[in-house]
Amino acid sequence: MADELKRGLEGVLVAESDLSYVDGEVGKLVYRGYDIEDLARGASYEEVLYLLWHGSLPSAAELDSFAADLAAEREVADDVIETVRALADAGERPMAALRTATSMLSAYDPDGESDDDGEATLRQGRRITAKIPTVLAAFERVRQGEEPVAPDPDLSHAGNFLYMLTGTEPDAVSEETFDMALTLHADHGLNASTFTAMVIGSTMADVYSGVTGGIGALSGPLHGGANQDVMEVLHEIDASAKDPVEWVKDRQDDGGRIPGFGHRVYKVKDPRAKILEEKLRDLSESSGDTKWLDYTTAIEEYLTDQGLVEKGIAPNVDFYSGSVYDSLGIPVDMYTPIFAMSRVGGWIAHVAEYQEDNRLIRPRARYTGPEDAEFVPVDER
Ligand code: ACO
Repeated sequence: MADELKRGLEGVLVAESDLSYVDGEVGKLVYRGYDIEDLARGASYEEVLYLLWHGSLPSAAELDSFAADLAAEREVADDVIETVRALADAGERPMAALRTATSMLSAYDPDGESDDDGEATLRQGRRITAKIPTVLAAFERVRQGEEPVAPDPDLSHAGNFLYMLTGTEPDAVSEETFDMALTLHADHGLNASTFTAMVIGSTMADVYSGVTGGIGALSGPLHGGANQDVMEVLHEIDASAKDPVEWVKDRQDDGGRIPGFGHRVYKVKDPRAKILEEKLRDLSESSGDTKWLDYTTAIEEYLTDQGLVEKGIAPNVDFYSGSVYDSLGIPVDMYTPIFAMSRVGGWIAHVAEYQEDNRLIRPRARYTGPEDAEFVPVDER
């Protein structure tokens, strides 16, 4: 049994965690026992961060002080903004720019490298979580030829990001929608980026290293990059005036995958997709523009009729998140960075939890290379 090979670590248990539980068979997600639907509808992202980092939902007073502490950390050093400008000028992609800037933030952290106790991890984690939106909004504005907007400590985490992005305070519906999206993406068991952060944390490296690694893992199209792919497909369908179902058939004929479908753990529709679908429906109905809703519904109905969903390849969170962000006016290539802006809460919680009872993560591979190769010095080869 010890030598059984599990490609992609599928189903392998590597740690115990109180943080989140995914039941892929019934489509359930909980954070510390609370159903994602209750949290998405009833709790702010700040409450969810508190829950993940401190173990319970905050009282009103605890939430006020936690949110104020988080808001107080939003500003980033001028040099970081200058680096963000240089990255935007060089045409860097948003996830790569975020990865570089996050790594740079550590130079300005008053805790330095003293990340050897849980309290320091959470203090540093709070600073990273507070500053990532500032970095992202600055990057986007500079890219658009605009000046960065300074954070407003009186706004919520979600509201302040939209404000820094657009220069205008968001309306209540936009702020609430974005806050809900942040809550839905905050944690999800040992997904690839969280595991990456944990592997780095298990060497007792500082939390900046773990978050920087997590951003790298999340940038891939099999993980966080899929929400961007979905929206690009919807735009492509729109531009070609093609029937969405025809697009899907063509993709299938080419042997390609349908972005936003399938998940390593969920074998039924992702509960986060259900909540975002409902949100998209509300937003579309109130704006009178139902285009994305119509396309996604047509694709989902077709793939359901085809039996794909029954086979376990069902809509995941990314199938709907892009359309929701589009309705908020957020550019497509910022979707994955926004995912990072939320998931950073989970990365930090998992690193802090794992380090409490740390064991270096070090699996092994079955060696399939040659044995007894005869070494020949370079000048004789
Ligand atoms: N469209 C069509 N077929 C699919 C899809 C899809 N989106 N996803 C999986 N399949 C098929 C595969 O072709 C394979 O079929 P086969 O057995 O006949 O060869 C079967 O389902 C199993 O696929 P695997 O790749 O083994 O499944 P895995 O668990 O490794 O993949 C993954 C999960 C990577 C998410 C996959 O479903 C996929 O590529 N989806 C599209 C990208 C996407 O939406 N990613 C976002 C995931 S959610 C998130 O990260 C937030």
